[in-house]
This record gives sequence, C-alpha cells and structure tokens, in this order.
Amino acid sequence: MEFMLDTADIDAIKELDEVLTVAGVTTNPTIITKSGKTPEQVISELVDYLRPDQSLFVQSVSMDFEGIMEEARYINALRPENTYVKIPVTREGMKAIKAAKAEGLNVLATAIYSADEAFMAALNGADYLAPYVNRMCNYGDGVGQVIDLIRMIEVQGLSSKIVAASFKSVEQVHELIAAGIQAVTVQPDIVRAMIDHPGTEIAVGEFTDAWDKTFGRKTLR
Ligand code: E4P
Repeated sequence: MEFMLDTADIDAIKELDEVLTVAGVTTNPTIITKSGKTPEQVISELVDYLRPDQSLFVQSVSMDFEGIMEEARYINALRPENTYVKIPVTREGMKAIKAAKAEGLNVLATAIYSADEAFMAALNGADYLAPYVNRMCNYGDGVGQVIDLIRMIEVQGLSSKIVAASFKSVEQVHELIAAGIQAVTVQPDIVRAMIDHPGTEIAVGEFTDAWDKTFGRKTLR
C-alpha cells in the first residue's frame, strides 16, 4: 500500500518524510498556485528533494489534446523514473491518457468523480486512478463509490492502481485503507491528525514521570 502526500509544501514534505514512509507526492494546479512560488520553483524543489524510489505526480494544465500531450512528455522527462503526469478525465484528457500510454508515458487519471469514469480511464491504460473522495461525497456516497471501484478493477483484472485523493477527514482515509485501497494521497493536516493522538503523549509523559520519581532520571541507564 502506498501512502502519499498531497501537497507542494516542501517543509511539510520534509517533516513528514522523516517520520513516515512516504511513497510519493501529488500536486495539482491549485496546490501549486497556493504555494506562493512559481511552478518552476515548486517542481525543481520536489525533483531535488524526492528519492528516486518516491513518486512525483504533476498535473497537466492545458485542456486540449495536443497541449496535454506536450505537457505529459515534459512532466515525464523531469526525472528518470517514478514521475507521472496527472491528466483530468475530460474527453480530451481521456484521449490523451490513451495516447500517452501508447507512447509509454507514466499516467495518473485525475479529477475523477465516479467509479465509471475511473473504470474507463483504467481501460485506457492509466497507471493510477485518482477518485476525489470528498468531492464525490457532495454527489452521494464517495467512499462507497471508491469501494465499488476497488472491486471493479479487481474482478476485471485491470492493472491500474487506485490512489484515493481529496480527503477531508481521517475517517475517509481509514475506511478506504480498511477496504483495501492500493494508495492514498493525503494533505499534511490530515496526516498529522492520523499520527498525533494526544493519548500517546499523555501515556509517554506518565511513563517518564514514574521513572523519574523512582530512579531520579529520565533515561533507561
Ligand atoms: C490529488 O491528487 C488531488 O488533486 C487533490 O487531492 C484534490 O483535492 P481537493 O479536493 O482538496 O482539491
């Protein structure tokens, strides 16, 4: 299972990558516009920081087939491996996903709002499918649709991996991990909420206090 960070904030990436097993980083145009940096700065920081085994996902911005293809080639060439273009599943995007895979490019199908859209992108050969879980919840049962998608991909023997995205709660992430999702991409605040349980700090404080009171030190030896 791959756990990825959904952010372009290099400080947050470094902070969480030291503590956790981070399989990769996903960005989108909105995330990059909010960084306060140019796209070139953000991309170069990520390319410089990530280890070769960590994946990088950068989204195409053009809306027409030729523009998407040109950006897909550029993004794939940023690093020798584990670099993916994120292509939204519009009509032009679907066409580009098919063509990009025929060229041997790495592709993540994004802006997915239904299991059916995702399934069609999987048939076009997308390596990853990114359903927007929380946004899907505005139209119905987002988590349920993604659980359906997990089954659809499995029973039809397709190789695409689902990387669930657009989370707004720890519970949404938890439910999909428990359902067997292959990958998730999660924004730093939600990742922190997954690991920083206040009970853990309290328990550790109690252990240290008891040790200190009994042995007059806060270390084992
Ligand atoms: C990640 O790949 C997606 O672009 C992202 O999770 C979308 O999240 P949002 O719904 O918070 O914009």
